[in-house]
Amino acid sequence: MNKKIISDFPQIKNDYIYFDTAATSLKPKAVIEAVNMYNEILSANIHRGMYFNSVKTTELYEEARSVVAKFINAKEDEIVFTRGTTSSINLVAYSYGLVNLKPGDEIIVSEQEHHSQFLPWQNVAKKTGAKLRFVELNSEGKITIEMFKKVLNDKTKVVALNYVSNVLGYINDIKEIAQLTHQKNAIIVVDAAQAIQHIKVDVVDLDVDFLAFSGHKMLGPTGVGILYGKSRHLDILEPMEFGGDMNEDVEKTESTWKKSPLKFEAGTMPIAEVIGLKEAITYLENLGLENIHSYSMNLYQYLQNEISKIEGITVYNPNSDTGILTYNIDSVPAHDAITYYAEKNIALRSGQHCAKLIHDFLNIHSSLRVTVYFYNTKEEIDRFIEVTKEAIKYFKSVGF
Ligand SMILES: Cc1ncc(COP(=O)(O)O)c(C=O)c1O
Repeated sequence: MNKKIISDFPQIKNDYIYFDTAATSLKPKAVIEAVNMYNEILSANIHRGMYFNSVKTTELYEEARSVVAKFINAKEDEIVFTRGTTSSINLVAYSYGLVNLKPGDEIIVSEQEHHSQFLPWQNVAKKTGAKLRFVELNSEGKITIEMFKKVLNDKTKVVALNYVSNVLGYINDIKEIAQLTHQKNAIIVVDAAQAIQHIKVDVVDLDVDFLAFSGHKMLGPTGVGILYGKSRHLDILEPMEFGGDMNEDVEKTESTWKKSPLKFEAGTMPIAEVIGLKEAITYLENLGLENIHSYSMNLYQYLQNEISKIEGITVYNPNSDTGILTYNIDSVPAHDAITYYAEKNIALRSGQHCAKLIHDFLNIHSSLRVTVYFYNTKEEIDRFIEVTKEAIKYFKSVGF
């Protein structure tokens, strides 16, 4: 990766290797500067003031909405700012799921889901009497169309699946799944938290009903997320949160709401973060998602090739479609292994990655996860491989 890109990320240091992008990405200077600019210069609320700083802040906030909309080929009023993927999905689960589902209805999910997608729908199922149906995964842990068709039926009302698994890195065929879903008059809610930073997401082409993602996994700040929803859904959904700025008229007995998306943005929003997110998208677009993906996949293939030569390692996704590689050092619990990497200043993730069901599917308690992205290098992988070999020797020597 060229020096210019590395220098855009002040978090990158010589003796520190960051392989945890699936948890949160690094943030380029342009994003940090935009957030600082808001705090240092503008520091005003949106939609409420007539003074210069407030008008300018509103302009930047709404410009960011328009940049997000173009990025996924949506219309501006189909973009709702939230706190993150988790909030976006909860909004749909509460405002659509709890209102529209009834006993006998079915919600399709999978064991691949992050808890942010699974738990809101489990809650909807419990509260409404609807039934959760799991798409059976194939032996690699993939969702196939054939298996999806087996659980889809006339009772299906919601399909809630991830676009890319945060543990196995597989890209699901959301376009085909959406087509099949609509043939049953059901809706599809897509968790795109691990897709948006790797591949082009076009909501018109995919024809999905709702799609959620987080700013902080795509070079943006923490605390801001997006819910895309088709206008015809957003127009009729009731908000989940009530408060300032989302109301049109307030009376003692009845009140009315602004049109979407503002009716879903109650209270003071993460303004600095939204402004920073715009810069993150501009950065991704300037680099080009195709370039980013092909660079990450080259690194992934190199990593997968090198790690497969080491004895005593189990890789759970040798055919990942993104930069995510999940593995264990045989007979060493992930929580012990991670301390070795941490001491060597290599940032990986260990645990269940908020996706317990896929660990049950793999028949393991926890795992180690490396994510490589466009700001990582081959040299970092070489160092990681070296440390992995040392770790295996060390753990053997202390009796694991
Ligand atoms: C696939 C997936 N969905 C949802 C989330 C939740 O994102 P957030 O914590 O930003 O709401 C994550 C984050 O790890 C994820 O990887």
